[in-house]
Amino acid sequence: MLKLDHLTFHYKGSPDKYEFSLNVQPGEIIAIMGESGSGKSTLLELIAGFLIADGGELTWQGKDLTPLPPELRPVTTLFQNHNLFEHLSANRNVGLGLKGKVDPSIVGEALKKVGLTGLENQIANTMSGGQQQRVALARALVRDAPVLLLDEPFSGLDDTNKAAMLALIEKLAKEEQRCVLMVTHDQSDCDAIATRQYRVIDRQLVTTQQT
Ligand SMILES: Nc1ncnc2c1ncn2[C@@H]1O[C@H](COP(=O)(O)OP(=O)(O)OP(=O)(O)O)[C@@H](O)[C@H]1O
Ligand SMILES: [Mg+2]
Repeated sequence: MLKLDHLTFHYKGSPDKYEFSLNVQPGEIIAIMGESGSGKSTLLELIAGFLIADGGELTWQGKDLTPLPPELRPVTTLFQNHNLFEHLSANRNVGLGLKGKVDPSIVGEALKKVGLTGLENQIANTMSGGQQQRVALARALVRDAPVLLLDEPFSGLDDTNKAAMLALIEKLAKEEQRCVLMVTHDQSDCDAIATRQYRVIDRQLVTTQQT
């Protein structure tokens, strides 16, 4: 379980204090909504380790994550844009998610999972937005981190591509028992796949729906 227990944070020079509490079980998809500037990305960056909490607890399977740098946390993040090296092929982009020697079969398997078999050698900037986001998801998958953070990765996609990505995320959460935190502005994304929904209000997480 991923656990945030009164995890606090403030940006330097700001009096505003964030305080987040949340438990996420493997296989769950937690939707995070909230107004622009409410602190959704701040929450994900605290979990990923790009921001360092002031206090409180952040644990994975009971282990304290706060001393660990981002690359040693059991976490991978998919952002809205700029996920790929645009002059590299799908294969090379996915391979960058692997440490050490790249195993082509692992790369091929990840591209298969996201439905891109046959496009392995295509250069990223010649692919559609939806295909590029699927390459980015494949790269996140090869890292094999049990916690997957999604910061509005669907907002640039058309409805068909978005629906395909949502279905894929739902399948991954279930079949591979990943913990998914998904930031979105779109209520229909939440209703489609989230197991629980929250909003960031007054710098805290507030439950909006339990299913
Ligand atoms: N490096 C920073 N230093 C100071 N304040 C920051 C910094 N980064 C973000 N903030 C502020 O913290 C607040 C929360 O930002 P955050 O990016 O978490 O919002 P968000 O909910 O993700 O918004 P959006 O929906 O627009 O992406 C905002 O008021 C923002 O201006
Ligand atoms: Mg944001």
